[in-house]
Amino acid sequence: MAKPKVYVTRRMAQEALDTIAEVTEMEVWPEELPPPYDVLLEKVRDIDGLLPLLTDKIDANLMDAAPRLKVISNMAVGYDNIDVPEATKHGIVVGNTPGVLTETTADMAFALLMAAARRVAEAGAFTRKGHWKTWGPMVMLGQDIHRATLGIVGLGRIGTEIAKRAKGFNMKVLYYDEMRRSQEEEKQFGVEYVSGLPTLLSRSDFVSIHVPLGPQTHHLIGDAEFAIMKPTAILINTSRGPVVDQKALYEALKSHNIFAAAIDVTEVEPISMDDPLLTLDNIIITPHIASGSVATRTKMANMAAANLIAGVQGKIPPNCVNPEVIKD
Ligand code: DGY
Repeated sequence: MAKPKVYVTRRMAQEALDTIAEVTEMEVWPEELPPPYDVLLEKVRDIDGLLPLLTDKIDANLMDAAPRLKVISNMAVGYDNIDVPEATKHGIVVGNTPGVLTETTADMAFALLMAAARRVAEAGAFTRKGHWKTWGPMVMLGQDIHRATLGIVGLGRIGTEIAKRAKGFNMKVLYYDEMRRSQEEEKQFGVEYVSGLPTLLSRSDFVSIHVPLGPQTHHLIGDAEFAIMKPTAILINTSRGPVVDQKALYEALKSHNIFAAAIDVTEVEPISMDDPLLTLDNIIITPHIASGSVATRTKMANMAAANLIAGVQGKIPPNCVNPEVIKD
């Protein structure tokens, strides 16, 4: 019997590719940049499985062109690049990679928090530019992390890990989420629920965002939200760029309405080199690498491989966001 055909949109951990190649006829897009949409449109015509990244837009048009497609296995926990309701309509299962990147992403969010608070990137550049003249009582002053108040927007897996890290710094941790945790969980994680985003924003010294991107969270943080944050506040975003209105962020930073920001995601990725945010000293922008440790990216690739293989075999992928597609 012919092996199922699959298309993988980027090179990834070799062990995952080897696993896929054992049971499928696999083609991998060889370039560093994502395959152009037209290439994807052509490739999906006769494949049974697709393994894309978050940089690949998988829409209804693409699914219409893919009569054999059974599974889309995203190598990411987020899947806002995929039109999941359309996939469900087309009978295509969608897989993602939750869990394995939680702690690595939380580590990065906390690294960004600390770097922004103590102006680590800016101070490094200051030294290299030869601006370090002497020890000065007012040189490169930042904000304290210990005993500060951290506001977590979205207390899911990653938000919870951030809360744990914050406890090591004796921080007070507030959270806002559509779904309130049980009292036992709040106690276990040492977090206090606040009933509205404005309350969280006005009370927090640090605000860290951990919500998925969707219609309700698009521009969740904009002009009105920055206006109620403390002038000493620091915003951290490791979720998705469009959750924060980037123009509003620029204004807030430029006018020192907030102290600083550290973001791993931008509204358009990669950020344009003309973007005014890049002219500011009080922001750190990293290139969407929060899950980027060798071990975690390998686990994500292996998980995506397992989802892909299950899907082409007509099974529910181990991590599936629309399992209702396959009726038992
Ligand atoms: C994800 O998995 O959704 C991250 O943004 C990339 O690691």
